[in-house]
Amino acid sequence: MIIRKTAAEIEEMRPACERAAEVLSRVVRWVRPGITTGELDQYAAEQIAELGAKSAFLGYHGYPGHICVSVNDEVVHGIPGDRVIHAGDVVSIDVGVVYRGWVGDNARTVAVGNTVPEVELLLAATAGSLAAGIAAARVGNRIGDISHAVEEYVVARGFSVVREYVGHGVGRNMHEEPQIPNYGPAGRGPRLKAGMTLAIEPMVNMGVAAVKTLDDQWTVVTADGRPSAHFENTIVVTDGEPEILTCPLKTPFE
Ligand code: MF3
Ligand code: CO
Repeated sequence: MIIRKTAAEIEEMRPACERAAEVLSRVVRWVRPGITTGELDQYAAEQIAELGAKSAFLGYHGYPGHICVSVNDEVVHGIPGDRVIHAGDVVSIDVGVVYRGWVGDNARTVAVGNTVPEVELLLAATAGSLAAGIAAARVGNRIGDISHAVEEYVVARGFSVVREYVGHGVGRNMHEEPQIPNYGPAGRGPRLKAGMTLAIEPMVNMGVAAVKTLDDQWTVVTADGRPSAHFENTIVVTDGEPEILTCPLKTPFE
């Protein structure tokens, strides 16, 4: 069952999403050569606490970090630790928080320092595919229209979509129905209705689509070792334009 939120529930969910976005934007600004992924996690933990929220990831199926930090060939679910970030790295940060019983979930990938054109193209294709997916999240469309829009955008740019992990409904729980694949035919799946809150999250590989999971049972890496990118927003389907809920706080300390 897909849980649609009332207008009042959307207003309750908004502060959680704003906090997830605020933390993500702060952590992204904290990324620099020489910092470790564990230090980024510690910084994220401090920011989450300062905003009165809790990590939605810490302890989830035993996940040991406050955020996910996935570097270069790491696709998603990179566990923060001793790994040092270097210039030229491609760093994906995924932040989910719980605030007053609601979850906000979002992710972004950045290149550290000077980078090669193909990495810039990968980041632009992934961010653009998320925007294309969000644009398809309209009443009258189906989940498959989101999936198809994402895939079409990525494939047209010569990159590949990860198939093993999907976007999802989000609300009082991080993972609600429906699943939102980043590939597949248009016109299939559940009909979109106003009040559906969705985390759309394309994971896009520069090379082959195939991935594998490392022995830590969390870190997902590309099968060919080439870089990957991940962008995610929590949105709400409305009777008009889809609205992105994971926008940073305008006044963080109100
Ligand atoms: N944004 C990811 C998701 O929606 C993050 C989950 S990481 C986990 O699934 F550690 F919490 F599993
Ligand atoms: Co998610």
